[in-house]
Amino acid sequence: MTLLTDKVILITGASTGIGADAARLFAREGAQVVLTARSEGLLAELSDEITAAGGTASHVAADVCNTDDVERVVKTVLERHGRLDGAFNNAGVGQASAKIADVDEEIFDHIFNVNVKGVWLAMRAEIRAMLEAGAPGSIVNTSSVGGLRGGRTLGAYSASKHAVIGLSRSAAQDYGPDGIRVNVLAPGTTDTPMIAGWRERGIIVHLDSVTPLRRSAQPIEVAEAAAWLLSDRASYVTGATFTVDGGMVA
Ligand SMILES: NC(=O)c1ccc[n+]([C@@H]2O[C@H](COP(=O)([O-])OP(=O)(O)OC[C@H]3O[C@@H](n4cnc5c(N)ncnc54)[C@H](OP(=O)(O)O)[C@@H]3O)[C@@H](O)[C@H]2O)c1
Repeated sequence: MTLLTDKVILITGASTGIGADAARLFAREGAQVVLTARSEGLLAELSDEITAAGGTASHVAADVCNTDDVERVVKTVLERHGRLDGAFNNAGVGQASAKIADVDEEIFDHIFNVNVKGVWLAMRAEIRAMLEAGAPGSIVNTSSVGGLRGGRTLGAYSASKHAVIGLSRSAAQDYGPDGIRVNVLAPGTTDTPMIAGWRERGIIVHLDSVTPLRRSAQPIEVAEAAAWLLSDRASYVTGATFTVDGGMVA
């Protein structure tokens, strides 16, 4: 028995990194996945790869900051599959290192648009679809260990990831009575394009040295936790923040 048999799951930020590995994993676990991000070419390649491996996948390109785009994505899922059982709201952007007083307003707004408004827009459309269907659902939003503590020279990113936890906990309170579970994934250092530049600057070596498991995660290790939270095996888990960080914040 696979973990996500027949579940229809939407994944945002599915073109690379954690989202792409989540797409592969969820499909192997029996889910019908719909992938979204802005990079249509990458999404098409990944859908083809999953389909060739025997899974069910399709894609729709969209910007998570754009209300019409996000609503169109959820509408497309319903047109293709008739329902939405789960969503992994994982799209996000990082921040170039800068102390709080040195962050440009435009950059601050962009980080909050993608990391906070994007998650809220996605949840809003997903929850409406789940409520309309009157069926239970599960949502997992990607925060970060940066959402659990201050981030030196990463303040805008850290604040945006704290906000993801606040939104998710509140949604868990609002929609628990409707059978919709909402949880948060808080990854630590994960080897993806987002932090590719950190290795040559020695930042990864430092982060690994202060991580109890003494290494970074592979994106599939983070995706595994998302799969469990989306599955019925996590049926009594909601409003939780699940760290997958090698013990970094322990
Ligand atoms: N890597 C880490 O160490 C780490 C640690 C903690 C938390 N996280 C979080 O994990 C999540 C996934 O990141 P990752 O590490 O896998 O990095 P990544 O490979 O850069 O993935 C980011 C994803 O978000 C999508 N995205 C960015 N802006 C978007 C927008 N405006 N509209 C739609 N999609 C957008 C990107 O796709 P397109 O560019 O194609 O749109 C991409 O698929 C993020 O929320 C990140 O903050 C990462």
